[in-house]
Amino acid sequence: MTTDLTSALAGARILPVLTVPSEEMAAPLAAALVAGGAQCAEVTFRTAAAEQVVKAMAAHGGLVVGAGTVLTAEQVERAVAAGARFVVSPGWDDEVVAKCLELGVPVVPGIATATELMRALRAGLGTVKLFPAEQLGGLDTVRALAAPFPQARFVPTGGIGPDRLSEYLAEPSVLAVGGSWMAPGALLECGDHAEIRRLTAQAVERSTR
Ligand code: 3PG
Repeated sequence: MTTDLTSALAGARILPVLTVPSEEMAAPLAAALVAGGAQCAEVTFRTAAAEQVVKAMAAHGGLVVGAGTVLTAEQVERAVAAGARFVVSPGWDDEVVAKCLELGVPVVPGIATATELMRALRAGLGTVKLFPAEQLGGLDTVRALAAPFPQARFVPTGGIGPDRLSEYLAEPSVLAVGGSWMAPGALLECGDHAEIRRLTAQAVERSTR
C-alpha cells in the first residue's frame, strides 16, 4: 500500500491541498482538477464537510483522494471510512501513525526536524511531508535533511506556489510538492473552476519540464 502511494505521488508530482466548505463543491472541483491534469488530491479535515467531500471526490473518479490535516486516530477512522486512500498529517503524532498502520492506510506524516524524520524512518515511513516547507527554509532545508537521510523522500508543502515548483521538483529527494495554490478558498467560494483548472494545468506543465 505504502509503495503504491509513493508511486502515485512520484507519478503525480503535485498534490493539491483542498479545504472545501461544502459537499456540493466536491464534484465540480474534482472535475476541474482532473481536467487540469492532477492525479492526486488531499482533502483537509478542516471543515465539517470533509468526509462527504472525500466521498464525493473519490466517487467522481480520476483522482487518488486522501485526507489531510488529520490530527487524531478518530479522524483516521473517519477518513478511511469515507474512502480516503491515504492520510496526511501536518506533524508527527504517534496515535495517528499507529492507527494508519493498523488500518493499512498509507500515511505521510509531517516533519519539521531531523528528530521527527528519524522517528518516521524508524516507523518504516520513508515518505514525509516537510511542513511548513518555505517557512522552515525551503530547498536549503530539504537538501540539509536529505544529506544524512538519503532514504527519505519529501513532499514539501507550505508556502510553495507555481514560481518555485520546478526548483523543488528538480531535487532528487523531492517526490512531490503539495499546496493550496491550485484551488484556494477564494476560487472555491466563487466557483471559478476555470481558474482552478488553469492553475492546476500550469502546475502540471511545470512539473513535467
Ligand atoms: C497544508 O495543510 O498542507 C497547508 O495548509 C498547505 O500549505 P499552503 O496553503 O501554504 O500551500
